[in-house]
Amino acid sequence: MIRIPKPEYARRRKTLMEQMVPNSIAILPAAPMHIRNRDVEHVYRQDSDFQYLTGFPEPEAVMVLIPGRAHGEYVLFCRERDPERELWDGLRAGQEGAVRDFGADDAFPINDIDDILPGLIEGRERVYYSIGTHVEFDRRLMDWVNVIRSKARQGAQPPSEFVALGHLLHDMRLYKSAAEVKVMREASEVSARAHVRAMQAARPGLAEYHLEAELEYEFRRGGAKMPAYGSIVAAGRNACILHYRENDAPLKDGDLILIDAACELDCYASDITRTFPVNGRFSPEQKAIYELVLKSQEAALAVIAPGRHWNEAHEATVRVITAGLVELGLLQGDVDALIASEAYKAFYMHRAGHWLGMDVHDVGDYKVGGEWRVLEPGMAMTVEPGIYVSPDNQDVPKKWRGIGVRIEDDVVVTREGCEILTGGVPKTVAEIEALMSAARSEAA
Ligand code: GLY
Ligand code: MN
Ligand code: MN
Repeated sequence: MIRIPKPEYARRRKTLMEQMVPNSIAILPAAPMHIRNRDVEHVYRQDSDFQYLTGFPEPEAVMVLIPGRAHGEYVLFCRERDPERELWDGLRAGQEGAVRDFGADDAFPINDIDDILPGLIEGRERVYYSIGTHVEFDRRLMDWVNVIRSKARQGAQPPSEFVALGHLLHDMRLYKSAAEVKVMREASEVSARAHVRAMQAARPGLAEYHLEAELEYEFRRGGAKMPAYGSIVAAGRNACILHYRENDAPLKDGDLILIDAACELDCYASDITRTFPVNGRFSPEQKAIYELVLKSQEAALAVIAPGRHWNEAHEATVRVITAGLVELGLLQGDVDALIASEAYKAFYMHRAGHWLGMDVHDVGDYKVGGEWRVLEPGMAMTVEPGIYVSPDNQDVPKKWRGIGVRIEDDVVVTREGCEILTGGVPKTVAEIEALMSAARSEAA
Protein backbone atom coordinates (compact mmCIF):
# COMPACT_ATOMS: atom_id res chain seq x y z
CA MET A 1 0.00 0.00 0.00
CA ILE A 2 1.35 3.44 -0.93
CA ARG A 3 0.63 5.94 1.80
CA ILE A 4 2.92 8.82 0.81
CA PRO A 5 2.48 9.41 -2.93
CA LYS A 6 5.69 9.35 -5.00
CA PRO A 7 5.45 12.98 -6.20
CA GLU A 8 5.54 14.11 -2.57
CA TYR A 9 9.09 12.79 -2.17
CA ALA A 10 10.13 14.74 -5.27
CA ARG A 11 8.49 17.87 -3.84
CA ARG A 12 10.37 17.45 -0.57
CA ARG A 13 13.72 17.14 -2.37
CA LYS A 14 12.90 20.19 -4.46
CA THR A 15 11.95 22.24 -1.41
CA LEU A 16 15.20 21.28 0.27
CA MET A 17 17.29 22.05 -2.82
CA GLU A 18 15.64 25.46 -3.17
CA GLN A 19 16.94 26.35 0.28
CA MET A 20 20.49 25.14 -0.33
CA VAL A 21 23.01 27.81 -1.33
CA PRO A 22 24.28 27.74 -4.94
CA ASN A 23 27.11 25.34 -5.67
CA SER A 24 26.42 22.98 -2.78
CA ILE A 25 25.76 19.28 -2.22
CA ALA A 26 23.72 17.33 0.35
CA ILE A 27 24.78 13.84 1.42
CA LEU A 28 22.62 11.52 3.50
CA PRO A 29 23.23 7.82 4.20
CA ALA A 30 20.53 5.22 4.87
CA ALA A 31 20.38 3.77 8.39
CA PRO A 32 23.04 1.12 9.01
CA MET A 33 22.00 -2.44 9.80
CA HIS A 34 22.64 -3.52 13.38
CA ILE A 35 23.62 -6.99 14.56
CA ARG A 36 21.50 -8.25 17.44
CA ASN A 37 23.61 -11.29 18.27
CA ARG A 38 26.02 -13.30 16.15
CA ASP A 39 24.43 -13.46 12.68
CA VAL A 40 20.95 -12.24 13.69
CA GLU A 41 20.11 -8.67 12.76
CA HIS A 42 17.82 -6.22 14.51
CA VAL A 43 14.68 -5.47 12.53
CA TYR A 44 15.72 -2.88 9.97
CA ARG A 45 14.27 0.61 10.38
CA GLN A 46 15.15 3.23 7.79
CA ASP A 47 16.63 6.54 8.98
CA SER A 48 13.77 9.04 9.23
CA ASP A 49 15.53 11.82 7.28
CA PHE A 50 16.49 9.37 4.54
CA GLN A 51 12.97 7.95 4.39
CA TYR A 52 11.51 11.46 4.28
CA LEU A 53 13.53 12.46 1.22
CA THR A 54 13.69 9.19 -0.72
CA GLY A 55 11.01 6.71 0.37
CA PHE A 56 13.77 4.17 -0.38
CA PRO A 57 13.49 1.31 2.11
CA GLU A 58 16.83 -0.46 1.70
CA PRO A 59 19.99 -0.29 3.81
CA GLU A 60 23.40 0.33 2.22
CA ALA A 61 22.28 3.38 0.27
CA VAL A 62 23.37 7.02 0.10
CA MET A 63 21.30 9.91 -1.21
CA VAL A 64 23.11 12.80 -2.86
CA LEU A 65 21.41 16.03 -3.92
CA ILE A 66 23.30 18.39 -6.18
CA PRO A 67 21.10 21.36 -7.18
CA GLY A 68 21.77 22.45 -10.73
CA ARG A 69 23.78 19.38 -11.80
CA ALA A 70 23.23 18.96 -15.53
CA HIS A 71 23.27 15.15 -15.44
CA GLY A 72 20.65 15.02 -12.72
CA GLU A 73 20.25 16.58 -9.31
CA TYR A 74 19.21 13.46 -7.37
CA VAL A 75 21.81 10.69 -7.25
CA LEU A 76 21.22 7.47 -5.34
CA PHE A 77 23.90 4.95 -4.49
CA CYS A 78 22.37 1.56 -3.67
CA ARG A 79 23.03 -2.17 -3.72
CA GLU A 80 23.31 -3.91 -7.06
CA ARG A 81 20.86 -6.62 -8.02
CA ASP A 82 22.28 -9.98 -6.95
CA PRO A 83 20.22 -13.15 -7.56
CA GLU A 84 22.20 -15.14 -4.98
CA ARG A 85 21.76 -12.56 -2.18
CA GLU A 86 18.18 -11.82 -3.18
CA LEU A 87 17.37 -15.53 -2.86
CA TRP A 88 18.37 -15.32 0.82
CA ASP A 89 17.51 -11.78 1.87
CA GLY A 90 14.80 -10.52 -0.48
CA LEU A 91 14.53 -8.34 -3.56
CA ARG A 92 16.60 -5.23 -4.18
CA ALA A 93 15.64 -2.27 -6.32
CA GLY A 94 19.06 -2.08 -7.97
CA GLN A 95 20.08 0.97 -9.96
CA GLU A 96 17.34 0.50 -12.53
CA GLY A 97 14.69 0.32 -9.83
CA ALA A 98 16.15 3.36 -8.06
CA VAL A 99 15.54 5.42 -11.20
CA ARG A 100 12.31 3.78 -12.34
CA ASP A 101 10.51 3.39 -9.00
CA PHE A 102 12.14 5.95 -6.70
CA GLY A 103 12.67 8.91 -8.98
CA ALA A 104 16.49 9.04 -8.88
CA ASP A 105 17.99 10.95 -11.83
CA ASP A 106 21.10 8.82 -11.66
CA ALA A 107 21.93 5.68 -9.68
CA PHE A 108 25.25 3.93 -9.00
CA PRO A 109 26.26 0.74 -7.17
CA ILE A 110 27.07 1.46 -3.52
CA ASN A 111 30.33 -0.46 -3.99
CA ASP A 112 31.49 2.23 -6.44
CA ILE A 113 30.90 5.13 -4.05
CA ASP A 114 34.62 5.60 -3.22
CA ASP A 115 35.35 6.16 -6.91
CA ILE A 116 32.36 8.35 -7.74
CA LEU A 117 31.38 10.48 -4.74
CA PRO A 118 34.65 12.48 -4.43
CA GLY A 119 34.09 13.60 -8.03
CA LEU A 120 30.58 14.79 -7.15
CA ILE A 121 31.79 16.69 -4.08
CA GLU A 122 34.77 18.26 -5.86
CA GLY A 123 34.18 21.90 -6.74
CA ARG A 124 31.16 22.27 -4.40
CA GLU A 125 31.75 24.90 -1.76
CA ARG A 126 29.30 23.71 0.85
CA VAL A 127 28.37 20.20 2.01
CA TYR A 128 25.07 19.69 3.85
CA TYR A 129 25.55 16.68 6.09
CA SER A 130 24.54 15.53 9.59
CA ILE A 131 27.90 15.16 11.29
CA GLY A 132 27.91 12.84 14.28
CA THR A 133 24.79 10.85 13.40
CA HIS A 134 26.55 7.90 11.76
CA VAL A 135 30.10 7.90 13.07
CA GLU A 136 31.42 5.32 10.60
CA PHE A 137 30.03 7.33 7.69
CA ASP A 138 31.59 10.56 9.08
CA ARG A 139 34.99 8.91 8.74
CA ARG A 140 34.33 7.82 5.17
CA LEU A 141 33.17 11.29 4.22
CA MET A 142 36.37 12.78 5.60
CA ASP A 143 38.33 10.21 3.56
CA TRP A 144 36.53 11.34 0.39
CA VAL A 145 37.20 14.99 1.18
CA ASN A 146 40.85 14.16 1.83
CA VAL A 147 41.05 12.49 -1.59
CA ILE A 148 40.01 15.84 -3.08
CA ARG A 149 42.43 17.77 -0.85
CA SER A 150 45.29 15.53 -1.97
CA LYS A 151 44.62 16.60 -5.56
CA ALA A 152 44.55 20.32 -4.80
CA ARG A 153 47.80 20.86 -6.70
CA GLN A 154 46.14 19.46 -9.81
CA GLY A 155 43.44 22.11 -9.38
CA ALA A 156 40.87 20.07 -7.39
CA GLN A 157 38.71 22.24 -5.09
CA PRO A 158 37.73 20.70 -1.76
CA PRO A 159 34.60 22.03 -0.02
CA SER A 160 35.22 24.79 2.46
CA GLU A 161 32.09 24.47 4.58
CA PHE A 162 30.14 21.69 6.28
CA VAL A 163 26.64 22.63 7.39
CA ALA A 164 24.15 20.60 9.43
CA LEU A 165 21.59 19.20 7.02
CA GLY A 166 19.09 18.87 9.85
CA HIS A 167 18.83 22.62 10.20
CA LEU A 168 16.85 22.86 6.94
CA LEU A 169 15.39 19.38 6.85
CA HIS A 170 14.01 19.23 10.36
CA ASP A 171 12.11 22.44 9.93
CA MET A 172 10.47 20.92 6.84
CA ARG A 173 9.60 17.76 8.77
CA LEU A 174 7.91 19.77 11.50
CA TYR A 175 5.10 20.82 9.13
CA LYS A 176 3.07 17.75 8.20
CA SER A 177 1.46 17.59 4.76
CA ALA A 178 -2.09 16.32 4.22
CA ALA A 179 -0.69 12.92 3.19
CA GLU A 180 1.45 12.73 6.32
CA VAL A 181 -1.47 13.65 8.58
CA LYS A 182 -3.48 10.90 6.88
CA VAL A 183 -0.83 8.29 7.69
CA MET A 184 -0.55 9.54 11.26
CA ARG A 185 -4.33 9.37 11.60
CA GLU A 186 -4.25 5.76 10.41
CA ALA A 187 -1.38 4.87 12.79
CA SER A 188 -3.42 6.46 15.58
CA GLU A 189 -6.54 4.50 14.68
CA VAL A 190 -4.67 1.21 14.72
CA SER A 191 -3.04 2.15 18.04
CA ALA A 192 -6.39 3.20 19.48
CA ARG A 193 -7.85 -0.20 18.61
CA ALA A 194 -4.90 -1.81 20.36
CA HIS A 195 -5.60 0.13 23.56
CA VAL A 196 -9.29 -0.79 23.44
CA ARG A 197 -8.35 -4.46 23.03
CA ALA A 198 -5.96 -4.29 25.99
CA MET A 199 -8.64 -2.68 28.18
CA GLN A 200 -11.11 -5.37 27.21
CA ALA A 201 -8.63 -8.13 27.98
CA ALA A 202 -7.41 -6.82 31.34
CA ARG A 203 -8.26 -8.71 34.51
CA PRO A 204 -6.56 -9.72 37.74
CA GLY A 205 -4.39 -12.80 37.38
CA LEU A 206 -2.93 -11.92 34.00
CA ALA A 207 0.55 -10.42 33.60
CA GLU A 208 1.60 -7.16 31.97
CA TYR A 209 2.93 -9.06 28.95
CA HIS A 210 -0.49 -10.55 28.25
CA LEU A 211 -1.72 -7.03 27.53
CA GLU A 212 1.41 -6.26 25.52
CA ALA A 213 0.53 -9.28 23.37
CA GLU A 214 -2.98 -7.88 22.79
CA LEU A 215 -1.45 -4.56 21.70
CA GLU A 216 0.99 -6.16 19.31
CA TYR A 217 -1.76 -8.29 17.82
CA GLU A 218 -3.69 -5.17 16.80
CA PHE A 219 -0.56 -3.39 15.56
CA ARG A 220 0.26 -6.22 13.16
CA ARG A 221 -3.35 -6.67 12.13
CA GLY A 222 -3.40 -3.00 11.25
CA GLY A 223 -0.41 -3.45 8.94
CA ALA A 224 2.18 -1.95 11.26
CA LYS A 225 5.61 -3.56 11.11
CA MET A 226 6.57 -2.48 14.59
CA PRO A 227 5.71 -0.39 17.63
CA ALA A 228 6.82 3.23 17.38
CA TYR A 229 8.81 2.77 20.63
CA GLY A 230 9.16 0.17 23.36
CA SER A 231 5.68 -0.52 24.77
CA ILE A 232 5.23 0.41 28.43
CA VAL A 233 2.73 -1.83 30.21
CA ALA A 234 3.06 -0.86 33.86
CA ALA A 235 0.78 -2.19 36.57
CA GLY A 236 0.46 -0.72 40.05
CA ARG A 237 3.53 1.11 41.29
CA ASN A 238 5.40 0.31 38.06
CA ALA A 239 3.42 3.18 36.54
CA CYS A 240 5.62 5.52 38.57
CA ILE A 241 8.66 4.42 36.52
CA LEU A 242 8.32 6.70 33.51
CA HIS A 243 10.06 4.47 30.98
CA TYR A 244 9.25 1.11 32.59
CA ARG A 245 10.08 -1.71 30.19
CA GLU A 246 10.08 -5.07 31.99
CA ASN A 247 6.36 -5.66 31.30
CA ASP A 248 6.36 -8.94 33.25
CA ALA A 249 4.65 -8.19 36.58
CA PRO A 250 1.26 -9.65 37.58
CA LEU A 251 -1.91 -7.55 37.26
CA LYS A 252 -3.36 -7.25 40.76
CA ASP A 253 -6.94 -6.63 41.76
CA GLY A 254 -7.25 -3.02 42.91
CA ASP A 255 -4.28 -1.72 40.93
CA LEU A 256 -4.24 0.64 37.99
CA ILE A 257 -2.41 -0.22 34.81
CA LEU A 258 -0.69 2.39 32.65
CA ILE A 259 -0.14 1.53 29.00
CA ASP A 260 2.01 3.81 26.86
CA ALA A 261 2.16 2.09 23.48
CA ALA A 262 1.48 2.77 19.82
CA CYS A 263 2.57 1.60 16.41
CA GLU A 264 4.25 3.26 13.47
CA LEU A 265 3.01 2.98 9.92
CA ASP A 266 5.43 3.67 7.09
CA CYS A 267 7.77 5.30 9.62
CA TYR A 268 5.05 7.61 11.04
CA ALA A 269 4.52 7.24 14.76
CA SER A 270 1.54 7.37 17.02
CA ASP A 271 1.99 7.74 20.79
CA ILE A 272 -0.87 6.93 23.18
CA THR A 273 -1.13 6.44 26.92
CA ARG A 274 -4.16 5.26 28.83
CA THR A 275 -4.43 4.34 32.49
CA PHE A 276 -7.25 2.12 33.77
CA PRO A 277 -8.12 -0.18 36.67
CA VAL A 278 -7.15 -3.84 36.35
CA ASN A 279 -10.53 -4.88 37.78
CA GLY A 280 -12.55 -2.39 35.74
CA ARG A 281 -13.51 0.01 38.60
CA PHE A 282 -11.51 3.02 39.80
CA SER A 283 -11.07 3.40 43.58
CA PRO A 284 -11.91 6.89 44.96
CA GLU A 285 -8.21 7.89 45.14
CA GLN A 286 -7.45 6.53 41.67
CA LYS A 287 -10.47 8.35 40.31
CA ALA A 288 -9.47 11.63 41.94
CA ILE A 289 -5.96 11.54 40.47
CA TYR A 290 -7.24 10.32 37.11
CA GLU A 291 -9.81 13.07 36.76
CA LEU A 292 -7.25 15.69 37.71
CA VAL A 293 -4.88 14.49 34.98
CA LEU A 294 -7.77 14.47 32.52
CA LYS A 295 -8.79 17.99 33.48
CA SER A 296 -5.22 19.18 32.94
CA GLN A 297 -5.11 17.52 29.54
CA GLU A 298 -8.37 19.22 28.54
CA ALA A 299 -6.91 22.56 29.62
CA ALA A 300 -3.86 21.90 27.45
CA LEU A 301 -5.91 20.89 24.42
CA ALA A 302 -7.87 24.13 24.72
CA VAL A 303 -4.73 26.23 24.15
CA ILE A 304 -3.37 24.38 21.12
CA ALA A 305 -4.14 26.54 18.12
CA PRO A 306 -2.33 28.68 15.56
CA GLY A 307 -0.83 31.73 17.22
CA ARG A 308 -0.45 30.03 20.62
CA HIS A 309 3.07 29.20 21.64
CA TRP A 310 4.55 25.78 22.29
CA ASN A 311 4.79 26.11 26.06
CA GLU A 312 1.21 27.24 26.72
CA ALA A 313 -0.09 23.67 26.81
CA HIS A 314 2.55 22.69 29.35
CA GLU A 315 1.84 25.75 31.47
CA ALA A 316 -1.89 24.91 31.43
CA THR A 317 -1.23 21.40 32.74
CA VAL A 318 1.09 22.69 35.47
CA ARG A 319 -1.53 25.14 36.73
CA VAL A 320 -4.40 22.62 36.78
CA ILE A 321 -2.29 19.87 38.34
CA THR A 322 -0.79 22.11 41.03
CA ALA A 323 -4.18 23.54 42.00
CA GLY A 324 -5.68 20.04 42.02
CA LEU A 325 -2.91 18.59 44.17
CA VAL A 326 -3.52 21.37 46.71
CA GLU A 327 -7.25 20.58 46.73
CA LEU A 328 -6.54 16.90 47.30
CA GLY A 329 -4.11 17.74 50.10
CA LEU A 330 -1.08 16.31 48.31
CA LEU A 331 0.57 19.74 48.20
CA GLN A 332 0.17 22.52 50.73
CA GLY A 333 0.48 26.23 50.07
CA ASP A 334 -0.30 28.96 47.59
CA VAL A 335 -0.75 27.70 44.02
CA ASP A 336 1.32 30.47 42.39
CA ALA A 337 4.13 30.00 44.89
CA LEU A 338 4.06 26.22 44.37
CA ILE A 339 4.27 26.75 40.61
CA ALA A 340 7.16 29.20 41.03
CA SER A 341 9.06 26.78 43.26
CA GLU A 342 8.20 23.87 40.94
CA ALA A 343 6.81 21.89 43.86
CA TYR A 344 4.55 20.02 41.41
CA LYS A 345 7.66 18.31 40.01
CA ALA A 346 7.57 15.80 42.86
CA PHE A 347 4.41 14.46 41.14
CA TYR A 348 4.64 15.74 37.56
CA MET A 349 8.25 15.66 36.46
CA HIS A 350 8.03 15.61 32.67
CA ARG A 351 6.85 17.95 29.94
CA ALA A 352 3.28 17.95 28.65
CA GLY A 353 4.35 16.77 25.23
CA HIS A 354 6.75 16.71 22.29
CA TRP A 355 6.64 17.02 18.52
CA LEU A 356 5.41 13.83 16.86
CA GLY A 357 6.09 12.55 13.36
CA MET A 358 8.48 10.07 11.78
CA ASP A 359 10.30 9.96 15.11
CA VAL A 360 8.17 9.57 18.18
CA HIS A 361 10.10 12.42 19.76
CA ASP A 362 10.17 14.22 16.48
CA VAL A 363 12.60 16.77 15.13
CA GLY A 364 11.97 20.50 15.04
CA ASP A 365 13.03 23.38 17.26
CA TYR A 366 10.90 24.22 20.29
CA LYS A 367 12.34 27.71 20.54
CA VAL A 368 13.11 30.18 17.77
CA GLY A 369 15.34 33.13 18.52
CA GLY A 370 15.13 32.33 22.21
CA GLU A 371 11.29 32.42 22.26
CA TRP A 372 8.86 29.49 22.45
CA ARG A 373 7.75 28.52 18.98
CA VAL A 374 4.38 29.80 17.82
CA LEU A 375 2.11 26.98 16.64
CA GLU A 376 1.11 26.74 13.00
CA PRO A 377 -1.19 24.39 11.07
CA GLY A 378 0.42 21.03 10.31
CA MET A 379 2.50 20.80 13.46
CA ALA A 380 1.82 17.54 15.30
CA MET A 381 2.44 16.91 18.98
CA THR A 382 1.47 14.83 21.95
CA VAL A 383 -0.43 16.07 25.00
CA GLU A 384 0.48 13.82 27.90
CA PRO A 385 0.23 15.16 31.44
CA GLY A 386 0.65 12.74 34.32
CA ILE A 387 0.71 12.45 38.08
CA TYR A 388 2.93 9.90 39.76
CA VAL A 389 2.80 9.49 43.53
CA SER A 390 5.98 7.67 44.40
CA PRO A 391 5.47 4.53 46.52
CA ASP A 392 8.22 5.96 48.76
CA ASN A 393 6.70 9.43 49.21
CA GLN A 394 6.46 9.74 53.01
CA ASP A 395 4.94 13.25 52.75
CA VAL A 396 1.53 12.03 51.60
CA PRO A 397 -1.01 9.71 53.22
CA LYS A 398 -0.45 6.05 52.36
CA LYS A 399 -3.66 5.71 50.35
CA TRP A 400 -2.18 7.85 47.54
CA ARG A 401 1.17 6.14 47.26
CA GLY A 402 2.02 4.11 44.17
CA ILE A 403 -0.72 5.66 42.02
CA GLY A 404 0.64 6.63 38.60
CA VAL A 405 -1.58 8.10 35.89
CA ARG A 406 -0.73 9.44 32.45
CA ILE A 407 -3.15 10.26 29.65
CA GLU A 408 -1.62 10.87 26.24
CA ASP A 409 -3.19 11.87 22.96
CA ASP A 410 -1.80 13.03 19.63
CA VAL A 411 -2.95 16.21 17.92
CA VAL A 412 -2.23 18.14 14.78
CA VAL A 413 -2.67 21.89 14.68
CA THR A 414 -5.42 22.94 12.25
CA ARG A 415 -6.49 26.38 11.02
CA GLU A 416 -8.93 26.80 13.90
CA GLY A 417 -7.41 24.77 16.72
CA CYS A 418 -6.30 21.18 16.70
CA GLU A 419 -7.50 17.78 15.54
CA ILE A 420 -7.20 14.91 18.04
CA LEU A 421 -5.88 11.92 16.12
CA THR A 422 -6.27 9.42 18.94
CA GLY A 423 -9.89 9.96 19.95
CA GLY A 424 -10.71 6.30 19.36
CA VAL A 425 -9.84 5.18 22.90
CA PRO A 426 -12.21 5.82 25.81
CA LYS A 427 -10.89 8.42 28.20
CA THR A 428 -13.40 9.42 30.86
CA VAL A 429 -13.84 7.28 33.96
CA ALA A 430 -17.40 6.45 32.90
CA GLU A 431 -16.36 5.45 29.35
CA ILE A 432 -13.52 3.24 30.56
CA GLU A 433 -15.63 1.53 33.22
CA ALA A 434 -18.44 0.95 30.71
CA LEU A 435 -16.09 -0.57 28.13
CA MET A 436 -14.47 -2.87 30.68
CA SER A 437 -17.75 -3.92 32.21
CA ALA A 438 -19.20 -4.77 28.79
CA ALA A 439 -16.11 -6.86 27.99
CA ARG A 440 -16.50 -8.74 31.29
CA SER A 441 -20.16 -9.57 30.77
CA GLU A 442 -19.42 -10.78 27.24
CA ALA A 443 -16.65 -13.02 28.58
CA ALA A 444 -18.86 -14.38 31.39
N1 GLY B 1 6.20 7.04 24.59
C1 GLY B 1 7.18 7.99 24.89
C2 GLY B 1 6.57 9.26 25.25
O1 GLY B 1 5.41 9.31 25.58
O2 GLY B 1 7.17 10.30 25.14
MN1 MN C 1 3.97 7.85 25.06
MN1 MN D 1 4.88 10.88 24.18
